[in-house]
Amino acid sequence: LFAGPVEFVKGVVAMPGLPPADRVEVCFAGRSNVGKSSLINALTNRKTLARASNTPGRTQEINYFALGEERYLVDLPGYGFAEAPVAIVRKWQELLKAYLSGRQTLRRAFVLIDSRHGVKAVDDEIMTMLDKSAVTFQVVMTKLDKINKETREKNIEQVKQALQKHPAAYPEIILTSSEKGEGLETLRAVIATLA
Ligand code: GTP
Ligand code: MG
Repeated sequence: LFAGPVEFVKGVVAMPGLPPADRVEVCFAGRSNVGKSSLINALTNRKTLARASNTPGRTQEINYFALGEERYLVDLPGYGFAEAPVAIVRKWQELLKAYLSGRQTLRRAFVLIDSRHGVKAVDDEIMTMLDKSAVTFQVVMTKLDKINKETREKNIEQVKQALQKHPAAYPEIILTSSEKGEGLETLRAVIATLA
């Protein structure tokens, strides 16, 4: 699947702009700067498909990428801190919530957690929203290359604890580094099995 074509479809700024709900889709959600766009690039072996940057708040639209002919990968704006005016950030957040709770063909939300920071209050809020809308979500821990083994174990434990109170959580956590390629095969396999 990932060896085939991947194409940018469109950037969506409001719910009516979403493409027709005629394919399975998975989305990448997470705090600003957690590594959502980088992960999409790494998964698809494309350096600049999704725009990644060191400036939190880089992705400002819901970006659709067609993976083969039957799936969409969806890159979301980050939540939490972003270097943008409050009113604009609020608009993204509303769009994000509308999308996460109202997209019929959304099969799984990958909630990205920075492995250095663990689950924060804003992550927990998003997870609660996903519980309410009955969207299965799976945690992907990012930037594994940036921490030592001890911190890794401690933060994995913290994430597992946090997931216990979320009925929509898929129990298996995926550990990744977009930089080093760790965990990408596992994640590709998960996406390939979702139909
Ligand atoms: P927003 O669009 O602002 O919400 O951010 P994002 O979640 O899409 O993050 P993005 O992919 O733009 O990455 C943010 C920064 O983290 C960039 O400087 C990336 O190079 C860096 N980064 C992402 N993934 C990794 C990783 O696995 N390892 C390391 N070392 N850096 C990473
Ligand atoms: Mg981004």
